[in-house]
Amino acid sequence: MIRSTLFTLLSVILSHATAQGTSAKMMRFACSQLVLDRIDPLVQPGIAPSAHLHQIVGGNSFNTTMPPVSYDPSLESTCTTCTFSQDLSNYWTANLYYRAANGSYKRVEQFPNGNLVQRGGMTVYYIPPYDGVSNVTAFKPGFRMLTGDSMLRTHTSQAQGICHRCFAGADFQPFGGAPCVDKLYDSPNLPTKPCPGGIRSTIYFPTCWDGANLDSPDHRAHMAYPTPSFEAGGACPTTHPVKMPQLMFEIMWDTRPFNGALWNASAAGNSGQPFVYSMGDATGYGQHGDYLFGWKGDALQRALDARCDNNKCDGVLERQSDEEAMKCAIGQKVGEDVGGWLEELPGGGGVGK
Ligand SMILES: *[C@@H]1O[C@H](CO)[C@@H](O)[C@H](O)[C@H]1NC(C)=O
Ligand SMILES: *[C@@H]1O[C@H](CO)[C@@H](O)[C@H](O)[C@H]1NC(C)=O
Ligand SMILES: *[C@@H]1O[C@H](CO)[C@@H](O)[C@H](O)[C@H]1NC(C)=O
Ligand SMILES: *[C@@H]1O[C@H](CO)[C@@H](O)[C@H](O)[C@H]1NC(C)=O
Repeated sequence: MIRSTLFTLLSVILSHATAQGTSAKMMRFACSQLVLDRIDPLVQPGIAPSAHLHQIVGGNSFNTTMPPVSYDPSLESTCTTCTFSQDLSNYWTANLYYRAANGSYKRVEQFPNGNLVQRGGMTVYYIPPYDGVSNVTAFKPGFRMLTGDSMLRTHTSQAQGICHRCFAGADFQPFGGAPCVDKLYDSPNLPTKPCPGGIRSTIYFPTCWDGANLDSPDHRAHMAYPTPSFEAGGACPTTHPVKMPQLMFEIMWDTRPFNGALWNASAAGNSGQPFVYSMGDATGYGQHGDYLFGWKGDALQRALDARCDNNKCDGVLERQSDEEAMKCAIGQKVGEDVGGWLEELPGGGGVGK
């Protein structure tokens, strides 16, 4: 019963009624592109260029170095690409490229996510517990985490939050559903055949906190996945007892221009799939997400407690106009072409490297 309710919940038009008759709500909002850049303040602080290209959304103080704990984007950023003006957090992940037979690469563009108005970027979710009543502890200033692993090329538990959906038709059909439960259209790896409606990449984070550390050396150990790992209602291990909201990124790749002649003209020929993530990963298992908390004051806690739904949180959060959010942007720190036909991936990370 819970599972079937979940399918409805994660559809573009969120359902408000659960099987229990309670109101199950989740925050779900657009964050436009801030910049595409080869820096990574979490994994490679101070290093420009970093190993691979990221796409970054959120507050405009995103920088090569954002010192752990002391750096608070909510005090440093003056605008955000996300819907709620109090969210100056940064969220970042890998980019997707098409790899042609002649060895050139072309970045895959993103399309807006259904009803959301945005310029590239991603959809961000904060999912409170599923029962509709339990409260969660919001992330705190200085908090940061990473999920997934850019080095993975096989499926391991490290990649349990990573999934791809192959849309069969326009308007993101089939619609909704928890990540990787649809056996026909979902896979942890990149889809191996053309997807007529594009590809959805989802990255969901662990929800169980050790209650003490805002970060850890691998940026993962202070957090753990609940069981089951998706939906914030799963049980937490005793080592990580504090339940936090489930953060999830959703990126909509417009792979449609590559489905025809270009599919066969790819480096993979017509025997494989032509896409590769910016770290040189043609499997998709290396997709990953980074988070650096930057909500103002206790705004996130209040929004979660109020069970704010979708991208509306009247009386609790300030919602800027979509136009205002799309205007926020910064220049690249590492100036390089990342969008045209490229002779190599930014950073040179070829497939298999
Ligand atoms: C990034 O950091 C550098 C060095 O500390 C600083 O000069 C610059 O103003 C920062 N940029 C932003 C957007 O905060
Ligand atoms: C490589 O192939 C792509 C796709 O066919 C084409 O658009 C591009 O111009 C080619 N690049 C070079 C340098 O030939
Ligand atoms: C959760 O927080 C809200 C707002 O503070 C409060 O009204 C509600 O009673 C809390 N629920 C539980 C189960 O503690
Ligand atoms: C791609 O190759 C397949 C298999 O050889 C073929 O059936 C299909 O017609 C080709 N598509 C295009 C657009 O050339």
